[in-house]
Amino acid sequence: MSFPKGFLWGGAVAANQCEGAYLEDGKGLSVPDMLLGGDVNTPRTFLPVTDPNAFYPSHEAIDFYHHYKEDIALFAEMGWNVFRLSINWGRIYPNGDDAEPNEAGLAFYDSVFDECRKHNIEPLVTICHYEIPWAIVTNYGGFANRKVIDLFVKYCETIFRRYKNKVKYWLTFNEINICCMGEGGIGDLYGLGVMDEEDIKATHPIKLSDLKNNKQRTFEALHNEFVASAKVVKLGHEINPDFMIGNMIAHVTAYPLTPDPKDVLACDHEENLKNNLCCDVQVRGCYPIWAKKYLKELGVDPYFIDNEEDAKILKEGTVDFHTFSYYMSNCITTHEGAETTGGNMTHGGKNPYLKASDWGWQIDPDGLEHTLETLADRYPGLPLMVVENGFGAFDKVEEDGSIHDTYRIDYFKGHIQSMKKACEAGVPLIGYTTWGPIDLVSAGTGQYAKRYGFIYVDRHDDGTGDFSRSRKDSFYWYKKVCESNGEILD
Ligand code: BG6
Repeated sequence: MSFPKGFLWGGAVAANQCEGAYLEDGKGLSVPDMLLGGDVNTPRTFLPVTDPNAFYPSHEAIDFYHHYKEDIALFAEMGWNVFRLSINWGRIYPNGDDAEPNEAGLAFYDSVFDECRKHNIEPLVTICHYEIPWAIVTNYGGFANRKVIDLFVKYCETIFRRYKNKVKYWLTFNEINICCMGEGGIGDLYGLGVMDEEDIKATHPIKLSDLKNNKQRTFEALHNEFVASAKVVKLGHEINPDFMIGNMIAHVTAYPLTPDPKDVLACDHEENLKNNLCCDVQVRGCYPIWAKKYLKELGVDPYFIDNEEDAKILKEGTVDFHTFSYYMSNCITTHEGAETTGGNMTHGGKNPYLKASDWGWQIDPDGLEHTLETLADRYPGLPLMVVENGFGAFDKVEEDGSIHDTYRIDYFKGHIQSMKKACEAGVPLIGYTTWGPIDLVSAGTGQYAKRYGFIYVDRHDDGTGDFSRSRKDSFYWYKKVCESNGEILD
């Protein structure tokens, strides 16, 4: 068998993109609740005060909060043995610094995990998937403030103790490297809860691409997040030594656009800064040798790397497995005038050999094989997991309600074949969760129309739709994949 026995097959969602019920049962506001929708040509905007007349897609999302039993039953029907989901921090600590956790929020996730267990599905929980409580942004300045490390640790202690017999697999922060992507303050807000004071106070919508960024503060906050992550890895193992606690990055694979050695060097630099820096700190427990030089080049004083107490914490809190999202690859060049294309919270050089989605994300299954083999070399013996991979597309519902999403099946088939080859080459890949197995709100554009699911949800960008669920062709295809442990791909 090319995929190992017990390989984890499933899908991944984030609370803020599927739950809805944004203020129900005591939940507080979190960062995504402040974002309006956009589309491929119109950036999402941030509107600081929730405007009763504006449409905030996360407020209802796909109403997983009230549909989770039906949804988990559909996941089980596909033969899953893992479901990656996040806990919304604001359901547990509505303001981030409350003295006591919100029991209704805790009870909700109890029910969700019980439902998973009922169907023999292992929950894989992201502790923070861009869901920093809004009050932590406004009252503390997000992770730029070291007090937030303690607030995060307290939140984790609460959920670790509560769910220690229900959840074994945890990921600390979703795409912790998103702030390294270099697209202004979007990554700061999503990943670190950090915003410029003036932007916070604004009374008009601000394009996410226009949010101000201060690199010194970004990398200080990222450092604090590394410390927070390492502390909870250690704490989690004390609470339950069987916990498997991983990190998670957005892996955007880069190729030099030309054989010009300057392009090759620029590409190495890109891979190091955007992908490897965060992984190295969380996997090896220390900053890579080149980190200070790179940060200085960005105008950042990397004094925090020399903090001995933090260095000790980072060493003690290395992760048990490394996970990442993989959607696409980019080309890097130092040459003027190269064409660019869209991507996962980033833009990159267009690759003449690849096709792209309608959002400009370049489709590159071979890049996944390359990435897996490179990571297996970089972190020998460390289990790896692809926890996001998927194809955002406009789906057409036929008159009889069917959806023939062959383009999605083709995308997945290519990527699963690549994983198979990597496994055959000895890469310790332990699982695969596709992104958005059920249609949900896009993080990048806030659209419903950018659909990823095997399961269609009747919900649209104008706020219409009855939230009903239906199976696309890809649903039946992925069922065969999961049930055959990746052997049947046709
Ligand atoms: C990843 C995120 O970056 O990509 C998800 O972890 C996100 O939250 C996914 O939804 C796909 O991106 P988008 O912008 O198409 O939703």
